[in-house]
Amino acid sequence: MTATLARAPHRVGPLAERLNGILANRGIDPDTAAAEPSAEPVTALELADARIPARYRRALADHPRITVWADQIAHTGRPGPSGPGIAEGPSLLIAGPTGTGKTHQAYGAVRALLSRGVRLRWEATTTADLYARLRPRAGHDAERDLQSLARSPLLLLDDLGAAKTSEWTEELTYRLINHRYEHLLPTLITTNLPTAELRTTLGDRVASRLAEMTERVVLTGPDRRRHQPT
Ligand SMILES: Nc1ncnc2c1ncn2[C@@H]1O[C@H](COP(=O)(O)OP(=O)(O)O)[C@@H](O)[C@H]1O
Ligand SMILES: [Mg+2]
Repeated sequence: MTATLARAPHRVGPLAERLNGILANRGIDPDTAAAEPSAEPVTALELADARIPARYRRALADHPRITVWADQIAHTGRPGPSGPGIAEGPSLLIAGPTGTGKTHQAYGAVRALLSRGVRLRWEATTTADLYARLRPRAGHDAERDLQSLARSPLLLLDDLGAAKTSEWTEELTYRLINHRYEHLLPTLITTNLPTAELRTTLGDRVASRLAEMTERVVLTGPDRRRHQPT
Protein backbone atom coordinates (compact mmCIF):
# COMPACT_ATOMS: atom_id res chain seq x y z
CA MET A 1 0.00 0.00 0.00
CA THR A 2 1.07 3.58 -0.40
CA ALA A 3 0.63 6.50 1.97
CA THR A 4 -0.66 9.66 0.43
CA LEU A 5 -0.32 13.23 1.53
CA ALA A 6 -2.70 16.05 0.91
CA ARG A 7 -1.05 18.93 -0.84
CA ALA A 8 -1.37 22.45 0.53
CA PRO A 9 -0.81 25.38 -1.78
CA HIS A 10 1.58 27.17 0.59
CA ARG A 11 4.18 24.76 1.85
CA VAL A 12 6.90 25.68 4.31
CA GLY A 13 9.32 23.61 6.40
CA PRO A 14 11.49 20.57 5.70
CA LEU A 15 8.61 18.27 4.70
CA ALA A 16 7.37 20.91 2.27
CA GLU A 17 10.86 21.27 0.81
CA ARG A 18 10.96 17.53 0.15
CA LEU A 19 7.50 17.61 -1.41
CA ASN A 20 8.52 20.50 -3.61
CA GLY A 21 11.67 18.60 -4.64
CA ILE A 22 9.58 15.57 -5.64
CA LEU A 23 7.21 17.76 -7.63
CA ALA A 24 10.11 19.52 -9.33
CA ASN A 25 11.55 16.10 -10.30
CA ARG A 26 8.21 15.35 -11.94
CA GLY A 27 8.41 18.64 -13.79
CA ILE A 28 5.53 20.14 -11.81
CA ASP A 29 5.68 23.72 -10.55
CA PRO A 30 5.11 23.41 -6.77
CA ASP A 31 3.09 26.65 -6.71
CA THR A 32 0.48 25.32 -9.12
CA ALA A 33 0.54 21.66 -8.03
CA ALA A 34 -2.42 22.01 -5.66
CA ALA A 35 -4.56 22.97 -8.61
CA GLU A 36 -3.03 20.27 -10.85
CA PRO A 37 -5.85 17.74 -11.37
CA SER A 38 -3.68 15.09 -13.02
CA ALA A 39 -0.89 15.03 -10.41
CA GLU A 40 -0.37 11.59 -8.85
CA PRO A 41 -0.45 11.39 -5.04
CA VAL A 42 2.97 11.55 -3.41
CA THR A 43 3.85 8.18 -1.89
CA ALA A 44 5.72 7.49 1.34
CA LEU A 45 8.44 5.86 -0.75
CA GLU A 46 8.83 9.01 -2.83
CA LEU A 47 9.11 11.11 0.31
CA ALA A 48 11.75 8.75 1.66
CA ASP A 49 13.63 8.72 -1.63
CA ALA A 50 13.86 12.49 -1.45
CA ARG A 51 15.76 12.15 1.84
CA ILE A 52 18.04 9.34 0.70
CA PRO A 53 21.42 10.39 -0.73
CA ALA A 54 21.20 10.36 -4.54
CA ARG A 55 23.62 7.44 -4.93
CA TYR A 56 21.35 5.12 -2.94
CA ARG A 57 17.96 6.48 -4.01
CA ARG A 58 17.11 3.42 -6.07
CA ALA A 59 18.95 0.91 -3.87
CA LEU A 60 17.40 -2.53 -3.68
CA ALA A 61 18.19 -4.74 -0.71
CA ASP A 62 18.78 -7.89 -2.75
CA HIS A 63 20.66 -9.75 -0.03
CA PRO A 64 18.31 -12.55 1.10
CA ARG A 65 18.97 -12.05 4.83
CA ILE A 66 18.10 -8.37 4.52
CA THR A 67 14.87 -9.15 2.68
CA VAL A 68 13.96 -11.58 5.46
CA TRP A 69 14.69 -8.89 8.08
CA ALA A 70 12.49 -6.35 6.30
CA ASP A 71 9.66 -8.91 6.07
CA GLN A 72 10.01 -9.70 9.76
CA ILE A 73 9.92 -6.04 10.78
CA ALA A 74 6.98 -5.36 8.47
CA HIS A 75 5.03 -8.26 9.99
CA THR A 76 5.62 -7.26 13.59
CA GLY A 77 4.59 -3.65 12.93
CA ARG A 78 1.73 -2.26 14.96
CA PRO A 79 -1.40 -1.88 12.85
CA GLY A 80 -2.35 1.72 12.14
CA PRO A 81 -4.99 3.54 10.07
CA SER A 82 -2.74 3.86 7.01
CA GLY A 83 -0.64 0.71 7.32
CA PRO A 84 1.51 -0.95 9.93
CA GLY A 85 3.84 1.23 12.00
CA ILE A 86 7.30 0.08 12.94
CA ALA A 87 7.59 -1.48 16.39
CA GLU A 88 10.14 -3.42 18.36
CA GLY A 89 12.30 -5.84 16.44
CA PRO A 90 15.74 -7.16 15.74
CA SER A 91 18.52 -4.98 14.41
CA LEU A 92 20.90 -5.71 11.55
CA LEU A 93 24.68 -5.41 11.49
CA ILE A 94 25.90 -5.30 7.91
CA ALA A 95 29.64 -5.92 7.93
CA GLY A 96 32.23 -6.23 5.18
CA PRO A 97 35.17 -4.51 3.54
CA THR A 98 34.98 -1.13 1.80
CA GLY A 99 32.86 -1.04 -1.33
CA THR A 100 31.01 -4.33 -0.86
CA GLY A 101 27.60 -2.62 -0.82
CA LYS A 102 26.85 -2.16 2.88
CA THR A 103 25.33 1.32 2.61
CA HIS A 104 23.45 0.25 -0.53
CA GLN A 105 21.88 -2.68 1.33
CA ALA A 106 21.08 -0.51 4.36
CA TYR A 107 19.21 2.15 2.36
CA GLY A 108 17.67 -0.69 0.35
CA ALA A 109 16.30 -2.06 3.64
CA VAL A 110 14.72 1.32 4.53
CA ARG A 111 13.14 1.42 1.06
CA ALA A 112 11.97 -2.19 1.42
CA LEU A 113 10.07 -1.32 4.60
CA LEU A 114 8.45 1.70 2.99
CA SER A 115 7.46 -0.25 -0.09
CA ARG A 116 5.82 -2.83 2.20
CA GLY A 117 3.63 -0.03 3.52
CA VAL A 118 5.32 0.40 6.89
CA ARG A 119 4.86 3.95 8.11
CA LEU A 120 8.05 4.94 9.76
CA ARG A 121 10.01 7.87 11.03
CA TRP A 122 13.61 7.12 10.29
CA GLU A 123 16.96 8.80 10.69
CA ALA A 124 20.26 8.05 9.00
CA THR A 125 23.76 9.23 9.81
CA THR A 126 27.33 8.10 9.49
CA THR A 127 29.08 7.83 12.83
CA ALA A 128 31.65 10.44 11.73
CA ASP A 129 28.79 12.91 11.04
CA LEU A 130 27.11 11.92 14.28
CA TYR A 131 30.17 12.80 16.36
CA ALA A 132 30.65 16.06 14.46
CA ARG A 133 27.03 17.04 14.90
CA LEU A 134 26.92 16.23 18.63
CA ARG A 135 30.17 17.97 19.53
CA PRO A 136 29.33 20.61 22.16
CA ARG A 137 28.89 24.02 20.60
CA ALA A 138 27.13 27.23 21.52
CA GLY A 139 23.44 27.46 20.69
CA HIS A 140 22.99 23.75 19.92
CA ASP A 141 21.23 21.30 22.20
CA ALA A 142 23.33 18.19 21.57
CA GLU A 143 21.53 16.20 24.25
CA ARG A 144 18.19 16.74 22.53
CA ASP A 145 19.71 15.76 19.20
CA LEU A 146 21.09 12.56 20.71
CA GLN A 147 17.73 11.70 22.30
CA SER A 148 15.95 12.24 19.01
CA LEU A 149 18.30 9.81 17.23
CA ALA A 150 18.19 7.33 20.10
CA ARG A 151 14.37 7.29 20.03
CA SER A 152 13.89 7.26 16.27
CA PRO A 153 11.72 4.24 15.37
CA LEU A 154 14.34 3.23 12.78
CA LEU A 155 17.95 4.37 12.75
CA LEU A 156 20.60 3.77 10.12
CA LEU A 157 24.04 4.13 11.67
CA ASP A 158 26.49 3.98 8.81
CA ASP A 159 30.19 3.14 9.12
CA LEU A 160 30.26 2.38 12.82
CA GLY A 161 33.86 2.14 14.03
CA ALA A 162 35.28 4.03 11.05
CA ALA A 163 35.61 7.42 12.79
CA LYS A 164 38.40 8.37 15.13
CA THR A 165 37.46 7.31 18.65
CA SER A 166 37.96 8.83 22.06
CA GLU A 167 36.42 8.37 25.50
CA TRP A 168 33.78 10.90 24.46
CA THR A 169 32.81 9.03 21.24
CA GLU A 170 32.77 5.74 23.15
CA GLU A 171 30.39 7.13 25.77
CA LEU A 172 28.15 8.69 23.13
CA THR A 173 28.03 5.49 21.06
CA TYR A 174 27.28 3.54 24.23
CA ARG A 175 24.37 5.80 25.17
CA LEU A 176 22.89 5.63 21.68
CA ILE A 177 23.25 1.87 21.30
CA ASN A 178 22.17 1.17 24.87
CA HIS A 179 18.91 3.11 24.44
CA ARG A 180 18.12 1.20 21.27
CA TYR A 181 19.14 -2.08 22.94
CA GLU A 182 16.90 -1.51 25.96
CA HIS A 183 13.89 -0.48 23.90
CA LEU A 184 14.35 -3.10 21.16
CA LEU A 185 14.38 -0.40 18.49
CA PRO A 186 15.29 -1.66 15.00
CA THR A 187 18.69 -0.28 14.01
CA LEU A 188 20.59 -0.79 10.78
CA ILE A 189 24.31 -0.64 11.41
CA THR A 190 27.06 -0.93 8.84
CA THR A 191 30.70 -1.46 9.69
CA ASN A 192 34.04 -2.18 8.06
CA LEU A 193 35.27 -3.80 11.24
CA PRO A 194 35.66 -7.57 11.47
CA THR A 195 33.75 -8.98 14.46
CA ALA A 196 36.94 -9.51 16.45
CA GLU A 197 37.80 -5.81 16.22
CA LEU A 198 34.38 -4.46 17.21
CA ARG A 199 35.23 -4.89 20.85
CA THR A 200 38.62 -3.22 20.79
CA THR A 201 37.37 -0.27 18.72
CA LEU A 202 33.93 0.31 20.24
CA GLY A 203 34.47 -0.98 23.77
CA ASP A 204 33.08 -4.09 25.39
CA ARG A 205 29.79 -2.52 26.50
CA VAL A 206 28.81 -1.61 22.93
CA ALA A 207 30.16 -4.81 21.35
CA SER A 208 28.34 -6.99 23.87
CA ARG A 209 25.00 -5.26 23.21
CA LEU A 210 25.49 -5.45 19.45
CA ALA A 211 26.19 -9.17 19.74
CA GLU A 212 22.79 -9.70 21.37
CA MET A 213 20.63 -7.19 19.51
CA THR A 214 21.79 -7.65 15.91
CA GLU A 215 21.56 -10.26 13.23
CA ARG A 216 24.81 -10.22 11.32
CA VAL A 217 25.13 -10.09 7.55
CA VAL A 218 28.64 -10.22 6.14
CA LEU A 219 29.12 -8.91 2.60
CA THR A 220 32.09 -10.14 0.61
CA GLY A 221 33.54 -9.57 -2.84
CA PRO A 222 35.59 -6.92 -4.56
CA ASP A 223 35.31 -3.18 -4.01
CA ARG A 224 32.35 -2.34 -6.29
CA ARG A 225 33.67 1.18 -6.73
CA ARG A 226 36.77 -0.18 -8.46
CA HIS A 227 35.32 -3.24 -10.23
CA GLN A 228 32.60 -2.45 -12.73
CA PRO A 229 30.50 -5.49 -13.69
CA THR A 230 31.35 -6.71 -17.19
N1 LIG B 1 23.62 -4.56 -5.11
C1 LIG B 1 24.10 -3.52 -5.78
N2 LIG B 1 23.69 -3.26 -7.04
C2 LIG B 1 24.17 -2.21 -7.74
N3 LIG B 1 25.10 -1.34 -7.26
C3 LIG B 1 25.55 -1.55 -6.02
C4 LIG B 1 25.09 -2.63 -5.21
N4 LIG B 1 25.72 -2.59 -4.03
C5 LIG B 1 26.55 -1.53 -4.08
N5 LIG B 1 26.45 -0.89 -5.27
C6 LIG B 1 27.22 0.29 -5.67
O1 LIG B 1 28.59 0.04 -5.36
C7 LIG B 1 29.20 1.17 -4.78
C8 LIG B 1 29.69 0.83 -3.36
O2 LIG B 1 28.55 0.50 -2.55
P1 LIG B 1 28.41 1.03 -1.03
O3 LIG B 1 27.12 0.54 -0.52
O4 LIG B 1 28.67 2.49 -0.98
O5 LIG B 1 29.64 0.24 -0.35
P2 LIG B 1 30.12 0.22 1.18
O6 LIG B 1 29.11 0.97 1.98
O7 LIG B 1 30.21 -1.23 1.55
O8 LIG B 1 31.48 0.86 1.20
C9 LIG B 1 28.16 2.28 -4.81
O9 LIG B 1 28.34 3.03 -5.99
C10 LIG B 1 26.85 1.52 -4.84
O10 LIG B 1 25.85 2.30 -5.48
MG1 LIG C 1 29.24 2.72 3.11
